[in-house]
Amino acid sequence: MDLRIAVLPGDGTGPEVVREALKVLAAIAKLEHIEYSTCQFDFGGDRYLTTGRIIDDDDIAKLRTDFDVILLGAVGHPDVAPGVLEKGLLLRLRFALDQYINLRPVKLYPGVECPLKDKRPNDVNFDVIRENTEDLYCGAGGFLRKNTAQEVATQEMITTRFGVERCLRYAFEFCRRKKHSGQGKGQLTLVHKTNVLTFGADLWFRAFNEIGEADFPDIQRDYNHIDAACMWFVKNPEFYDTVVVPNMFGDIITDLGAIIQGGMGIAAGGNINPDKGGTSMFEPIGGSAPKYTGQNIINPLACIGALAMLLQTTGHKAAGDRVEHAIIRTTPKLKSLSAGQMGYNTNAVGDLVVKSLA
Ligand code: IPM
Ligand code: MN
Repeated sequence: MDLRIAVLPGDGTGPEVVREALKVLAAIAKLEHIEYSTCQFDFGGDRYLTTGRIIDDDDIAKLRTDFDVILLGAVGHPDVAPGVLEKGLLLRLRFALDQYINLRPVKLYPGVECPLKDKRPNDVNFDVIRENTEDLYCGAGGFLRKNTAQEVATQEMITTRFGVERCLRYAFEFCRRKKHSGQGKGQLTLVHKTNVLTFGADLWFRAFNEIGEADFPDIQRDYNHIDAACMWFVKNPEFYDTVVVPNMFGDIITDLGAIIQGGMGIAAGGNINPDKGGTSMFEPIGGSAPKYTGQNIINPLACIGALAMLLQTTGHKAAGDRVEHAIIRTTPKLKSLSAGQMGYNTNAVGDLVVKSLA
């Protein structure tokens, strides 16, 4: 079997968008002669509410050993307190499978309305590489004198040389690959906050320059403070090629990236473990959209984009590119990328992509 895919539709609109991605997968696999298998898992809010279980060590072990890759729909349930599923399922998977890269391309596809007046597909086309296992996401910290007037809460920003270095090396190499394939100018921007976070950001900044100077002299190094980057993402998106950023700032800046490429209906990402034998997981960046659940109006293109990235990253580049080109042929046909305003239902958008594969 070429490709064994674990499918985690998850909560809310997750199952609806995953269904369309699997429809596209069946079509592209036939055209490109890819042998694959899928196995669905019901991890998510409903399972948690009925069984009290989110995901066990055994499940994680199975995902690691029995599958090449994971396709995830969405995590988050209106009847479950915030943080329970996000930490218990999504972050648990990212950490347990050591998916230390969160790759989030920001591309404006043809026919998509860009909120930035006068920006065209050529102007909005860059990649954000977000470190995915450290920083404020580690859960280090605690309470002191909880529920008293003297309460103290700490939430620690963890930065390790190991974690930073493997992320930076991935980013430099990614940027170099883009340059060599004519898709980038070979410029890597580090985004952090060296003027205030003088320990963690300093480690990043030193590692960035050391590694860049020693091993990637062909890559132009650039640095932005996070606040300034927010402004320039909007003002001059065409300036960016590849951006590397720590976890928390990366979370925020990729929502900004998602909106300048047309919104959550189109924004796809990958949680990547680039090591040999590592298990990666691809997902639409958006959440479970409870208010649109079950209505067949959610945009499946982000999930189909996640499928394209999944194929591109698992050795099926031609098939992945073909899916992406089908998305590019589909976006101009939609009235809008927003749920309920596409001019088509969820399944009809999936059908448009399948037709455009041929
Ligand atoms: C994302 C999400 C997650 C994150 C949440 C759901 C834990 O916002 O994938 O960007 O903060 O990483
Ligand atoms: Mn986020």
